[in-house]
Amino acid sequence: MAKPNLSPKINLNKHNFESLLQERVNNEISKYVINSNEIDKSMHYALSNPGKRVRPLLTYLVGDVLNLDFNKLDGTASAIEIIHTYSLVHDDLPCMDNDDLRRGKPTLHVKYSESTAVLAGDAMASLAIDIILQDENLNSDLKVELLQFLMKTIGPEGMILGQIQDISFESTSANEEEIIKMNELKTGALVEFSMLAPVIIAGERTDQWKKIAKRVGITFQLIDDLLDIQQSEENLGKAAKKDKKKNKKNYPICFGADKTRDKIKEYQDDVKTILSDMNLTDHPISIYINKLFDRQR
Ligand code: IPE
Ligand code: IPE
Ligand code: MG
Ligand code: MG
Ligand code: MG
Repeated sequence: MAKPNLSPKINLNKHNFESLLQERVNNEISKYVINSNEIDKSMHYALSNPGKRVRPLLTYLVGDVLNLDFNKLDGTASAIEIIHTYSLVHDDLPCMDNDDLRRGKPTLHVKYSESTAVLAGDAMASLAIDIILQDENLNSDLKVELLQFLMKTIGPEGMILGQIQDISFESTSANEEEIIKMNELKTGALVEFSMLAPVIIAGERTDQWKKIAKRVGITFQLIDDLLDIQQSEENLGKAAKKDKKKNKKNYPICFGADKTRDKIKEYQDDVKTILSDMNLTDHPISIYINKLFDRQR
């Protein structure tokens, strides 16, 4: 049964924002996946295992800066997390990265079957689009604008292009520019969308938000690639020390951990400066972004 809508505003502060927003995302997602039939069960398996919920948290935090009612963000935030989860389910398939562990549990194809994992990923992509289409808190013009942007973000010019580059670079070389571009496409674009969707909903697009979103997006993958080298499987809840074995051409593998850390620092400093120019240094968005830059998992 669908749960009632949550309150449009929450008073976020630096201590409570993460747990309150994670709870909100988890509640929202549980409205859409009821765990009834075979495909629902598999989607439920992937989605009920929360992960960090980074992308929807960014959506709500930017929305908070823009003073948006959270009801206007609930559908989009859930849709983003559902798309991200679909991308992980497909990313883990034997024909892709071939991983057995995700968010500390067996990957979907290990738990169910490969065909179920392919179909659950497809189903999550469709579900996410439908959630935005059906959102009663957004007008039609906004929905069209968001969906156009989302399709560019995750489609053959965005995330999928990045994912195919990631796979094809396993058997070719890649230069620095190509690796950064791949990061931007396969991971950065959806993180960017997460931060720019509320900006679109509020009608307050600025170059500052675009710059922040782009840097946070690219860095998210740079850090993921560093963590693969530096952290344990237990801490990450997914395979570690695996990218090199798979002959991946990511930034730390090709240019070393030190140069990767320098690059991350450069982006982090840029973002800090812009957030400070926007008088947001003490807002939870800055606290969260800094936490993402320093994350160990
Ligand atoms: C992992 O994403 C895959 C990338 C795109 C780098 P996250 O680190 O956000 O994974 P979860 O959602 O917390 O599991
Ligand atoms: C995943 O990148 C990117 C997408 C799912 C679009 P990775 O392959 O590095 O992510 P992990 O390390 O498996 O989480
Ligand atoms: Mg991958
Ligand atoms: Mg992977
Ligand atoms: Mg990785």
